[in-house]
Amino acid sequence: MFAPHGLGCLISLAVAVTGVRAASPQVQLGNTTLIGREVTLSNQDFFGGIPFAEPPLGALRLQRPVLKTSLDTAEFDASNFGFFCLQESVPVSELSEDCLTINVFRPSEVTSNASLPVLFWTYGGGNDAGSSAEFNASAIVARSVVRGTPIIYVNFNYRLGPLGFPRGQEAADRKVLNLALSDQITALAWVQENIGAFGGDKSKVTVFGQSAGAIMTAVQLLNPNFSNFARAAIFESGSAASGLILDAQHRVVDWDNFVAGVPGCENLSSTDNTFECLRSVNTTAIFDGLVIAQNESSSILPWTLTIDGLGGFLPELPSVLFGKGIFAKIPFISGTNLDEGTLFTPPTGNYTTELIEDIIVANFSPPTAESVSESQVKTAAAEMLQLYPDIPALGSPFNTGNDTFGLSPGYKRAAAIRGDINFQSQRRLWIQTASNTGVKTFGYLFTQPQPENSPFLGVSHESEIPYVYGTVENPTESDSVLSTAMIDYWVSFATSLDPNDGKGSPRPTWEQYTSQNQVLIQLNGDNMTLIPDNYRKEQIDFINSIPLTFITGVPCKGVFDELGQGKNNNNMHGLNLCPVYYSYECKMTKCSYYASECSPWNQSSSQVTDYTDRSRRTSSSEILLNPFISDSQVNDELFGFWKIPRDLSSRRHSEKE
Ligand SMILES: *[C@@H]1O[C@H](CO)[C@@H](O)[C@H](O)[C@H]1NC(C)=O
Ligand SMILES: *[C@@H]1O[C@H](CO)[C@@H](O)[C@H](O)[C@H]1NC(C)=O
Ligand SMILES: *[C@@H]1O[C@H](CO)[C@@H](O)[C@H](O)[C@H]1NC(C)=O
Ligand SMILES: *[C@@H]1O[C@H](CO)[C@@H](O)[C@H](O)[C@H]1NC(C)=O
Ligand SMILES: *[C@@H]1O[C@H](CO)[C@@H](O)[C@H](O)[C@H]1NC(C)=O
Ligand SMILES: *[C@@H]1O[C@H](CO)[C@@H](O)[C@H](O)[C@H]1NC(C)=O
Ligand SMILES: *[C@@H]1O[C@H](CO)[C@@H](O)[C@H](O)[C@H]1NC(C)=O
Ligand SMILES: *[C@@H]1O[C@H](CO)[C@@H](O)[C@H](O)[C@H]1NC(C)=O
Ligand SMILES: *[C@@H]1O[C@H](CO)[C@@H](O)[C@H](O)[C@H]1NC(C)=O
Ligand SMILES: *[C@@H]1O[C@H](CO)[C@@H](O)[C@H](O)[C@H]1NC(C)=O
Ligand SMILES: *[C@@H]1O[C@H](CO)[C@@H](O)[C@H](O)[C@H]1NC(C)=O
Repeated sequence: MFAPHGLGCLISLAVAVTGVRAASPQVQLGNTTLIGREVTLSNQDFFGGIPFAEPPLGALRLQRPVLKTSLDTAEFDASNFGFFCLQESVPVSELSEDCLTINVFRPSEVTSNASLPVLFWTYGGGNDAGSSAEFNASAIVARSVVRGTPIIYVNFNYRLGPLGFPRGQEAADRKVLNLALSDQITALAWVQENIGAFGGDKSKVTVFGQSAGAIMTAVQLLNPNFSNFARAAIFESGSAASGLILDAQHRVVDWDNFVAGVPGCENLSSTDNTFECLRSVNTTAIFDGLVIAQNESSSILPWTLTIDGLGGFLPELPSVLFGKGIFAKIPFISGTNLDEGTLFTPPTGNYTTELIEDIIVANFSPPTAESVSESQVKTAAAEMLQLYPDIPALGSPFNTGNDTFGLSPGYKRAAAIRGDINFQSQRRLWIQTASNTGVKTFGYLFTQPQPENSPFLGVSHESEIPYVYGTVENPTESDSVLSTAMIDYWVSFATSLDPNDGKGSPRPTWEQYTSQNQVLIQLNGDNMTLIPDNYRKEQIDFINSIPLTFITGVPCKGVFDELGQGKNNNNMHGLNLCPVYYSYECKMTKCSYYASECSPWNQSSSQVTDYTDRSRRTSSSEILLNPFISDSQVNDELFGFWKIPRDLSSRRHSEKE
């Protein structure tokens, strides 16, 4: 959306121009010359696939990463992204366990003393999916140059699934819980060491991320010392307690399944003596275990952040740390999308009042959440159902009247509850907590209509990403205006700690969120304006009034995460519920299967279905059994959600490993 021609002459004075250009950009890191890639059209340099830690293999597998500040070759080919960390649903040729790499996008011809501010991105993907290679920041960097405030963009890979989020007593004893958070902080340490060589200023790092990436970033801020790594943050649809925070002893079954699935280590499953064996096998064996653990899990998102005690990343629940004022007091932007809950609410459910109540009770009662009794949860569930009445016009997608899109009349109610518990309440709690202590904060609500989405998704989770990255497909005028404004706000904030630097596109002043002035900017291309942060105040106040019942870091599985306790118990609460049935989150192979087999609409079915049998997952004819999804919707609805820009075409695989 930004015209590539003409950028050269607009390069800001802040960027020293050296005149002569080498064919490939180079940066000297210690004794190593990194050979990057020239992105001619954008007048940018790209350096990718740079190891920031020792390969986490063999004895270093399941260990905290070891920062790698220098490479042991004279030249390093940094022209491509590195491999994805081990995960499902990605071609095996894209994967490597040796995946701890970092990427740098910068304007061309930046001298090593240019001291540009840095935007540092952490991708989302539910802790078991995603890669830095899915994010091309060329448009952000181009815009930063055009508006006269050039920045450098950095992103990186962190370990996923059991390799990034080990569970259980043994992992706790060995102090290797939350390894992915260690990867993230190590990548930031690499930035501190090395970004100067690329022309960046290590004292001007702004961390940003979306979904799981925002959650991880928010958890990092719970350590006051995080201000040594970043001076500002942007959270897109994720706060510290948006996700699920368990202690090491919860969901050990997923870890046990992983070990049981690793050929050669099976026998050690359920023991506290697994690590030596796990470090002795090859990547194929580990990947087998990972796939099996995902397959066997009763949760679609088994790999959660873990309470890790004193000196850890997450010593206590976020709500407890908030109460003590323990967090880095750095400026931030935090926002959500209008309909955060829809993507996590299967359109196939028959969302009667009873079902929603049962779901809440099943998910927030002991043994999952231990700190409240089942009767307290029941009381809370009843209160929630009163606060969210059975009127489609009040549900999510919001502002769509009483239209139910052919789904269960309760769908919008369920989606509103889901979005508010996980995202809206947490965003509001965090920004109010921080602003009340004087932290400079800015809030947003992204409401740009998404006509490419199926109507029942509304302005769903992830919708804002292409606007931030300037990669909206077939943008309308409204989309372009919004995307440009959002990049301007983001870059302005990264360069001046204020989204309103007066440079770039004309856009409304985004007022600071303070205890006296609780406002959000409504990010909408046709109506960018300030709005009071008071939507569903009564409901969200209620959620935030009982942090030990509803998330805010309490061990729980998320509202609709699990309807039962495993596949051998699908009759919980007298309902014929499938154990795993949410998830449209990039689990495409699975979701096609759920849509047909795991619908509580089908109350007549009493069989326990092997929903995990891969050979049965992909048949779209099965989806069509669902009466609420029409033939023409199938592809769009079930496979079109994951709109993160992917740019894998330019990668070469043969050169690494
Ligand atoms: C660079 O090479 C020199 C000479 O081999 C060596 O002494 C020095 O430690 C190396 N520096 C780094 C950062 O590896
Ligand atoms: C930055 O480096 C360039 C060349 O390396 C030099 O010409 C320029 O004076 C330096 N600028 C500053 C502010 O040090
Ligand atoms: C990012 O996108 C631009 C424009 O499409 C392309 O020229 C460039 O090669 C991409 N960068 C990477 C690292 O793939
Ligand atoms: C923060 O840094 C200080 C000084 O470097 C150190 O003493 C303290 O232990 C650190 N705190 C945490 C929680 O890491
Ligand atoms: C696992 O245990 C069984 C029975 O104790 C034994 O026969 C088998 O060799 C063991 N396998 C491994 C890989 O240790
Ligand atoms: C991994 O180890 C297994 C068992 O030792 C072996 O059969 C397999 O060939 C190895 N795979 C690779 C890629 O080395
Ligand atoms: C997934 O789990 C099911 C049930 O436990 C099993 O039958 C199936 O073989 C597993 N598939 C894979 C790929 O592990
Ligand atoms: C939606 O339906 C409710 C209950 O029938 C009704 O009170 C309300 O006016 C309707 N709202 C809209 C926007 O149609
Ligand atoms: C713009 O948004 C505000 C706040 O949501 C709303 O009150 C107003 O009616 C909207 N204006 C238009 C023209 O849609
Ligand atoms: C939804 O559930 C209710 C209550 O169990 C039932 O009466 C109704 O028939 C169900 N609807 C469908 C479409 O199955
Ligand atoms: C409901 O379950 C029955 C019995 O297992 C099955 O025959 C039927 O196809 C299912 N219907 C749907 C819509 O999934």
